Amino acid sequence: MTEEQLQALLQEMTTAEKVGQLTQFAGAFYSEQEDSTPVTGRIEFPVDEEMIKQSGSVLGVAGATKLAAIQREHLKKSRLGVPLLFMADVINGYETIFPIPLGLGATWEPDLIEKLQTISAKEAASAGLHISFAPMADLVRDPRWGRVMESTGEDPFLNGLFAAATVRGLQGEGSLIAKDRVGACVKHFAAYGLAEGGRDYNTVDLSERELRDKHLPAYEAALDAGVKLVMTAFNTVHSIPATANSALLRDLLRGELQFDGVIISDFGAVQELIPHGVAENEAEAAKKALEAGVDIDMMSLAYTHSLAALLDKHAIDSALLDEAVLRVLQLKNELGLFEDPYRGVSPQKEQAIVGHPSHHAFAQTVAEKSMVLLKNDNVLPLTKETTVALIGPYADNQDLLGEWSIFGKPDQTTTLKQAFQGHFAHAMYATGSHLYERDEALLTEATMVMEQADCLVLALGEGKDRSGEGRSRSSITLAPCQIELARLAKETGKPVIVALFNARPLDLTELEPYADAILECWHPGSEGAQAAVALLSGEVNPSGKLTMSFPRATGQIPVYYNAYQTGRPLPPGSNERFFSRYIDIPNEPLYPFGYGLSYTSFSYSNRSLSAVEWDGSASLTVSVDVTNTGKIDGVETVQLYIQDLVGEVVRPVKELKSFQKITLSPGETRTITFEITHDMLQYYHSDLTYASDSGQFRVYVNGSSVCEQENTLTFSLVKS
Ligand code: GLC
Repeated sequence: MTEEQLQALLQEMTTAEKVGQLTQFAGAFYSEQEDSTPVTGRIEFPVDEEMIKQSGSVLGVAGATKLAAIQREHLKKSRLGVPLLFMADVINGYETIFPIPLGLGATWEPDLIEKLQTISAKEAASAGLHISFAPMADLVRDPRWGRVMESTGEDPFLNGLFAAATVRGLQGEGSLIAKDRVGACVKHFAAYGLAEGGRDYNTVDLSERELRDKHLPAYEAALDAGVKLVMTAFNTVHSIPATANSALLRDLLRGELQFDGVIISDFGAVQELIPHGVAENEAEAAKKALEAGVDIDMMSLAYTHSLAALLDKHAIDSALLDEAVLRVLQLKNELGLFEDPYRGVSPQKEQAIVGHPSHHAFAQTVAEKSMVLLKNDNVLPLTKETTVALIGPYADNQDLLGEWSIFGKPDQTTTLKQAFQGHFAHAMYATGSHLYERDEALLTEATMVMEQADCLVLALGEGKDRSGEGRSRSSITLAPCQIELARLAKETGKPVIVALFNARPLDLTELEPYADAILECWHPGSEGAQAAVALLSGEVNPSGKLTMSFPRATGQIPVYYNAYQTGRPLPPGSNERFFSRYIDIPNEPLYPFGYGLSYTSFSYSNRSLSAVEWDGSASLTVSVDVTNTGKIDGVETVQLYIQDLVGEVVRPVKELKSFQKITLSPGETRTITFEITHDMLQYYHSDLTYASDSGQFRVYVNGSSVCEQENTLTFSLVKS
């Protein structure tokens, strides 16, 4: 349709039809075969036939046949033949499930993410979906929050690269969305990752400067990549819920950042303005949300119940309603729905695409790159001939797909035990304990199996039932029954290797001494077990690097690499009292941002700068020699951090500015160079101007965010 035709359609619409375009209900209300109890669970939801008939989009159902039936039924009833939009959370895969985003981040490969999201889009589109609620671009610092699994970590720059890659992968290039792509929706705008105490839906309170300096960059990267939708966060920003926040949505997002796509609320968030305490009733909630810029009211009845009456009373400007509806119609048009409401989808095509073996093969490759070797006291890799005992609640467990795997097939997921059987000739198995409960019989069986093996692999972790939305934990330790397993294994005196399946940084302080090696596998997706065996056996050399710090204790949270120094930074190794520290643990996390081991080793030497004084023009070149000092090929992510030593406001002790992932053969040395450009030195000042300051900067180049001061370089920016 042309713009004129869309405008003409808008003019033809009744108020009820316009309001309908701004409502989204769960699929349970559209298809009988869905579970009759709608997904609300939290609020009374009296949806009637008229509301369904008028609605504009559907949440959380997929399937070529099912969606075609819903669309057909809808078009029969739609006076003007406006097709439905189908939206769902395809975050890390549709049916072929990839590692959780916190694992995807550990690949440090945006191109890889773009490719996997292209596969996700192809599978989702073939199943009739139009929009995916991804990327989640929230910066996170608190692993008590169950949704850290959905993020790519604590760094603004890295989060931005992954958010943009996800948008490109899902949508493709250009304004129209091809039939094998879906529209992307960046969420949750904004700063949901800062929920106080890591408690879901809790208050967020941060300065405008922090919002812009740390949290906005990743959302902006998605906007720059052309993301079609933005989803509002449940939380407050400057004491106003994001869903009713005109300064955030109209002034910043639509005004300053020039976003002219669709803004959709999160699930029920418009109605939740009432319990938030900024709306007395649904009508006030609807008015505030529409005036703030929310186009689609997801799974609340505020718009449906109230907008028409508000219009009649001239309590809202009809132009606001029209502009919101037009954006929804434009989105449907960009998907080609007016020409073909079914977008050429068919069960035959779906069957040929979804779960294709090539997708699964790629999922294994991604999982292999996502896993992070946290510890290895020369016990990995295992040899095929090793008599190995695989023990633990994750030894034979299909719960590998992670929280956002609505359309995945857990019952078809290979377990670690099955993958072991295909690889190790002499392997034994025992569950040892339940995930969270001790079991004497299981323990007895496991201790007997331990006695017969030469090497013990413990498959431990936390299930998806403790991960994702609404699953904040007050403590991030491993279950005591699992620690007991590790202690018993250690007491055998045999090599103990831990393969960890979890979806948040855990407190591994108690586990660490019992393990000779720890491989962080995350919830690794459909082919995660095969990937874990490929790494444990040395077929693949681990290369993942953490994008979120692992605290030593829950009490250490928040701990993140790009923190401010404070006026009393603790001198390394000091035990002095009056410094910023805890008296019972060191300040450093157990495992830092950017950290990950390999089966080989790397050395860094000859760090140099092309100048020690720079006026900010062109660029400044940093170079370093990286050597593979081990005996096998290895992949290293060389990381460049910069510290602004004196700013107009306090500045992080370091900030990731660039990285290069390289492969080196044994003994090979390669000179790696980075170009420092002026934009890397800019930041938001106290008056919110974005600029650099003349002065001294320190440069860190290493294989993680940890780099001894003697291995750093400094330069002066001397602006004319
Ligand atoms: C949930 C989540 C959001 C998701 C939406 C639809 O509450 O907060 O990330 O996209 O509802 O499922």
